[in-house]
Amino acid sequence: MPLPDGFLDELTARNDIVDVVSDYVQLNKRSGSNLFGLCPFHSEKTPSFSVSQDKQIYHCFGCGKGGGVVNFIMEIENLGFMDAVQFLARRAGMEMPEDDTPKELRNRRARMLELNRDAARFFYETLKTPKGREAVDYIKRRGISPEMAKRFGLGCAPNEWNALTDAMTKKGYTQYELVDAGLCKRGRTGGVYDVFRNRLMFPVIDVRGSVIGFSGRILDDGEPKYLNSPDTPVFSKSHNLFALNLAKKSKMGMLILAEGNIDVVSLHQAGFDCAVASLGTSLTPEQARLMSRYTERVVIAYDNDGAGQKAAQRAIGIFENTGIQCRVLRMSGAKDPDEYIKKMGAEAFSLLLERSENHIEYRLLAVKAKYDLLTDDGRIGYLREATEVLASIGNSIERDVYSEKVADIASVSKEAVLNEVKRAISRRYKEQKKREEKKNLRPEQTVQPADKSKRYANPTSGVAEEGVIRVLVRDPELIKTVALTEESFTSPYWAKVFALIKRRNGDNESVTESAIANLLEDDADLFTKIMREPFDISAAPKVLQDCINKMERAQIKVSEDVDLLKYLENKRKNL
Ligand code: UTP
Ligand code: MN
Repeated sequence: MPLPDGFLDELTARNDIVDVVSDYVQLNKRSGSNLFGLCPFHSEKTPSFSVSQDKQIYHCFGCGKGGGVVNFIMEIENLGFMDAVQFLARRAGMEMPEDDTPKELRNRRARMLELNRDAARFFYETLKTPKGREAVDYIKRRGISPEMAKRFGLGCAPNEWNALTDAMTKKGYTQYELVDAGLCKRGRTGGVYDVFRNRLMFPVIDVRGSVIGFSGRILDDGEPKYLNSPDTPVFSKSHNLFALNLAKKSKMGMLILAEGNIDVVSLHQAGFDCAVASLGTSLTPEQARLMSRYTERVVIAYDNDGAGQKAAQRAIGIFENTGIQCRVLRMSGAKDPDEYIKKMGAEAFSLLLERSENHIEYRLLAVKAKYDLLTDDGRIGYLREATEVLASIGNSIERDVYSEKVADIASVSKEAVLNEVKRAISRRYKEQKKREEKKNLRPEQTVQPADKSKRYANPTSGVAEEGVIRVLVRDPELIKTVALTEESFTSPYWAKVFALIKRRNGDNESVTESAIANLLEDDADLFTKIMREPFDISAAPKVLQDCINKMERAQIKVSEDVDLLKYLENKRKNL
């Protein structure tokens, strides 16, 4: 059965490889962004099995096995591709396109979604009763309009122990179901009681419109301020975003990522209907990937305090890995978007959005803040570090624009900055080239893939083909700038991988390590292995051209050799 477009992406977005692998392997020992553990596929005493959360792939330095989350399940559960997909779909509570999930599980999920919907309705209706008075007052006090309260389905959990329990039991839900959905807890006497009490309730609705959980803000100043549903078969905090169900319909062409639920409501009320928030966790790679399905542009509008700015820095890193272009909005005079809009108005916020710095500018500002530009030493230090930031920009027009800004700040000529940047780029390029060449210097047997069936007929070309694939996965748009076809590859394996990249890029589907690995089904080891090598994106176009040249030279050389052999052979025959 062919899977519909995007299904595999959603599946992998909802099954974080670290979570999945952790069910089988104890991961710890962080090194860089990688986690290590004992390889489940061969026996060993020191951990050589690594998992990259950013790239969503695993690789064992010992036995060479590697791939994405689907490959992992195929291998460890000994399942075929479709069975592994189904296994993961079930794990993430997704319905298979052609649903053959066991009936009990399907029913459990369906019942839970129904219960959540009924609970949301109950909280909403409570607003109209005397028990909802306090929440209604609170909504008013926070400046939320009745229209917005309705759009978000806000509600009230009364200040009682059994309000929801009683209402839902009357509707036929069992205590077990209430506890299962995270709405109730079991008390010591055996009965159950409401988890959410005396709270303003925000239903969390997924992109398909199902109520999957709740976030409740306390109405007085009790603790904790917010309470969120626990993870259940239909809800995972790290995989969902508050208000994405509304924001995905926005025409603003971007998403605004805020910290608080209240900020999101305020933003929507002020006309910024593309605002979302993560659910009481810092941004996760899965959430970033989820956002990347709807937009390429994100503006981070976190709180104005130290914690918020730190979280913004972290989020930038996560967005960079998903190819999202992100900007950071800076407010002054208010602690968060809610307060800012109340104090300065929607118009002012709109200006902020326009002026929001993109991440390059943000990084340059961070560099600037480190130096005293009134001293020569300070200016030199600033220039040196700013040059590195500039050199990391892939687009030459952007690089030019920012070089000018840096030149202004350091009071030197733009030419001087551009020269330094050029030097930095060529240094990065040389370093990258050295890395590539090191590989060429390896004796032939280490150049060859461990798997005999994949041995290169033309090792020099084979290694260059690895390089081409490495570049194209990191920057798939480059595929349009070169005249490569499957026939350009001497290795059937790399030809196959190339075809996958080309197809996905052409279909506007994401090209990532994990997407390609998963599509390679039981054949992802070699791909995963070559993707582990470091790669400097700023040198991508040049490295790509180098590799192609190398392929061409290696292939001509071989055909010349073949021609020469033929010539000699003929000559011998004719003698
Ligand atoms: P904030 O404390 O900034 O809340 O936490 P807020 O939504 O801006 O509310 P006000 O304006 O102070 O009333 C930001 C987000 O962090 C999560 C919630 O999702 C909240 O919206 N959070 C906060 C929790 O999950 N638990 C908490 O105890 C506090
Ligand atoms: Mn806040």
